[in-house]
Amino acid sequence: MKGNWLFRFLFILMVALPFVALGTVSYAIDNEECLECHGDPDFVKELPGGKTVSLYVDGKRFAQSVHGQNDVACTDCHADITELNYDNDVPHPAPTKPVDCSSCHEDEQEAYEQSVHGQARKEGDDEAPTCATCHNNYHYVKYMAGETAAQRSAGVCLNCHDPDEYHDWLPSAKRIHYKYTDCSVCHAKNSPKLTRLLFYNIFKEQVIPGEEVVKALSVDFDNFLQAVDKNGNGKIDSKELYFITKTLKAKGIKASITGEIVADMDPSVHAITKDAIKDCTQCHSVKSPILSNLFLTLTKADGEAENYPLNKEVLSSLYPIRFYLIDATRIKLLDIIGVLIVLGGIGFAGGHLTVRLLTIPLRRRKK
Ligand code: HEC
Ligand code: HEC
Ligand code: HEC
Ligand code: HEC
Ligand code: HEC
Ligand code: HEC
Ligand code: HEC
Repeated sequence: MKGNWLFRFLFILMVALPFVALGTVSYAIDNEECLECHGDPDFVKELPGGKTVSLYVDGKRFAQSVHGQNDVACTDCHADITELNYDNDVPHPAPTKPVDCSSCHEDEQEAYEQSVHGQARKEGDDEAPTCATCHNNYHYVKYMAGETAAQRSAGVCLNCHDPDEYHDWLPSAKRIHYKYTDCSVCHAKNSPKLTRLLFYNIFKEQVIPGEEVVKALSVDFDNFLQAVDKNGNGKIDSKELYFITKTLKAKGIKASITGEIVADMDPSVHAITKDAIKDCTQCHSVKSPILSNLFLTLTKADGEAENYPLNKEVLSSLYPIRFYLIDATRIKLLDIIGVLIVLGGIGFAGGHLTVRLLTIPLRRRKK
């Protein structure tokens, strides 16, 4: 008995030792090693039937992605590749196992599992999206806060859904809503939401990069608020906003202002359900907490965004409007009356603030 035990012990030791030793000297496989093969733009795999799929990953773009920037390695996602054996044609297992994003994004996974999509997947619907279907640029994912609501839905939800088929209860304003609110604002009911204003170039039809704004004002993102908040109340007031746009104009940047209601970046945005916000006053009311959660947003090249608190009074002030759309004022007045008729018809309260919110797209379109 005893001898047997000793033998087993020695045997285990012999088998285990090389692994213990390897464990102490082994290191994660360097991305560069993978890119030796996968960094070749012409690297393709032939499928039966003659079709090919690209196995190319652009190492530079990957390095600039949110994952590359945060030192996530190829093998952190392709975790079933633990070693490369060059004696084989393919130096690693193939096909590789599907990437499990939840090893790092547990909260997103949890919210996803509650969603219509997670549920549909669970019930065997192969069309229902997974993490990598929605974040379909998976090797080059960037931070998403800097995208507009329109960019987010165009890049994700509109790939599969035609919202015009639904939402008939949104009177003649369906498209406006998809453009200026995230789908998840309504469809992920419990996601935190905010209203944000962005500097916008109406000729190029794009948001003015935050870097341009801070450069023109000779400040940086960290001291932006301090620099523009002249009265020191911790918020940007309409006069201060006016002053910023004036300074930008003096530096040759024609900054109009656009507004949108977005979901804050939070795992709960993934809990998409059929049961969505339908109550207009959640947004179209002076009392709306979403409107009080108001920021001036500067976007950054890495996809991040900085939010600076705005005084709610900005929404009802006329400074930026007068300044930018002076030629559209007369027509705008007619539009406002039109909108008021719509609003009156469905029993709104809200006055100035509502008009402001509703006329942002009108003002935008006038240019
Ligand atoms: C954030 C996670 C993540 C990282 C990091 C990552 N990948 Fe991927 N990769 C994926 C996903 C998701 C797929 C799609 C298939 C799947 O789900 O397994 C994929 C697919 C691939 C494919 C198949 C072809 C394709 O583009 O779909 C190759 C080759 C590949 N990855 C190589 C790499 C290399 C090389 C690196 C490092 C430079 C890397 N991956 C880093 C998530 C990642
Ligand atoms: C010596 C070249 C070589 C190296 C180095 C290499 N691969 Fe591959 N890889 C291949 C080949 C060949 C295939 C195609 C396999 C097949 O036919 O399915 C492939 C396929 C893949 C796939 C897609 C698998 C599938 O399901 O089709 C992924 C993901 C992948 N490699 C990731 C990596 C990662 C991550 C590394 C670094 C740790 C790496 N590879 C290193 C040659 C290489
Ligand atoms: C090894 C850990 C790891 C894995 C696996 C991983 N990620 Fe990430 N991911 C990160 C880190 C770290 C960040 C940056 C977080 C930060 O700065 O707050 C990040 C950020 C992101 C962001 C940007 C978030 C934002 O605030 O805008 C997205 C989108 C994302 N990941 C999607 C995915 C998807 C999809 C997968 C699976 C294909 C995946 N990740 C797999 C670690 C990981
Ligand atoms: C890859 C395709 C795909 C993408 C991308 C996608 N969905 Fe879906 N969606 C589906 C499928 C499949 C279902 C389940 C089948 C069904 O009932 O329509 C579904 C169901 C839904 C439902 C419930 C519909 C119902 O009748 O029960 C809503 C609401 C929804 N998705 C909203 C969204 C939103 C919002 C986004 C973007 C954040 C999005 N979807 C992105 C494919 C997609
Ligand atoms: C202003 C809030 C709001 C916005 C914004 C919104 N939705 Fe909806 N959506 C709803 C509501 C509420 C319903 C359910 C209507 C009902 O019960 O009749 C719905 C229904 C749907 C359905 C059908 C679900 C079913 O009943 O089968 C889909 C799919 C859908 N929306 C997708 C989207 C997509 C994609 C976007 C973004 C482009 C979007 N929605 C934007 C509120 C919204
Ligand atoms: C139906 C499409 C869809 C699916 C499925 C999906 N995402 Fe997202 N994800 C989005 C959109 C859209 C945003 C941006 C916020 C918004 O507009 O709602 C986002 C935001 C994020 C963020 C930044 C916000 C945060 O949570 O910090 C991360 C990280 C992320 N997704 C990771 C994942 C992971 C991991 C999975 C799988 C468990 C996943 N996503 C599945 C559409 C999707
Ligand atoms: C999730 C917030 C939200 C909800 C809920 C919502 N809206 Fe809107 N609505 C907006 C936003 C944001 C805009 C565009 C304002 C902007 O451009 O900043 C808008 C624009 C409009 C416009 C102006 C469209 C145009 O042509 O200029 C009308 C009218 C309107 N909404 C009516 C409604 C009605 C009626 C309901 C309820 C059935 C409703 N909205 C529900 C956020 C919302």
